[in-house]
Amino acid sequence: MTANRKDRIIVAANIERLASASADLFRRIAIESVARSGRFSVALSGGSSPRPFHRLLADEPYRSEIPWAQTHIFWVDERLVPPDDPASNFGMARKDFLTRLPIQHSHVHPMGSEKPPRRAADDYQQTLETYFGVDATNAPVFDLVVLGIGIDGHTASIFPGDRTAVETDRWVVTVAGGSPNVARLTLTLAVLERARCVLFVVSGRQKAAIVRTILIDDTALPPRQIAPDRGIVTWLLDREAAYLLPASLDGVDHAIV
Ligand code: 6PG
Repeated sequence: MTANRKDRIIVAANIERLASASADLFRRIAIESVARSGRFSVALSGGSSPRPFHRLLADEPYRSEIPWAQTHIFWVDERLVPPDDPASNFGMARKDFLTRLPIQHSHVHPMGSEKPPRRAADDYQQTLETYFGVDATNAPVFDLVVLGIGIDGHTASIFPGDRTAVETDRWVVTVAGGSPNVARLTLTLAVLERARCVLFVVSGRQKAAIVRTILIDDTALPPRQIAPDRGIVTWLLDREAAYLLPASLDGVDHAIV
């Protein structure tokens, strides 16, 4: 693993506990961020894994206890399809929880998915520059970035072997690939690794082999390339996704919830 990186793994007994552990962490970071800086800036992923967690955020006690008025929601990546397409990450989040949250419309920052790809990437980069009050030389710092992984080892829309989002100073790039195999936007490594908290949420037995490969084998897969400025990557796994991991892992904090 990258020298300054430390992984913290939390294994939840089942998918419900995984969702509540994710929501608890989201609430804690939101409250701490607002106390520190007056706002909470989070970037969410798509896919199916975070859906139970997302739905929970709009239920009590999270709906009341998370400082939604100071929360700004961004996306880690997006498939360039219309928002009402079932493949849209924003569309899915809207359906799962956004419409049930007491959050201002202007605090939700979807990646514009109906523009030509390069234009959509430039516009989202501009959205980030304006919101974070930084220029292109100074990547934004999210309080929390929530990531998933694919069975091929991708994270965000950074696919194994594709260096587009890895070897760049840009914060948002266009790529193609994945399932569905459509044009996509993704935040780049330069942004992901500046986040105060990098969190992977992974569930299901079908992810167990890739989780083990990422955490144990020495590979160049995208999740391993994230070397956060602050050093710690947190993995929230359900028991199924964790079942191929050894009981103890060198240099990794391990907890069961
Ligand atoms: C996307 C994602 C992607 C996702 C993983 C896991 O838009 O495709 O953000 O990186 O997190 O593919 O997806 P599943 O949870 O559906 O397996």
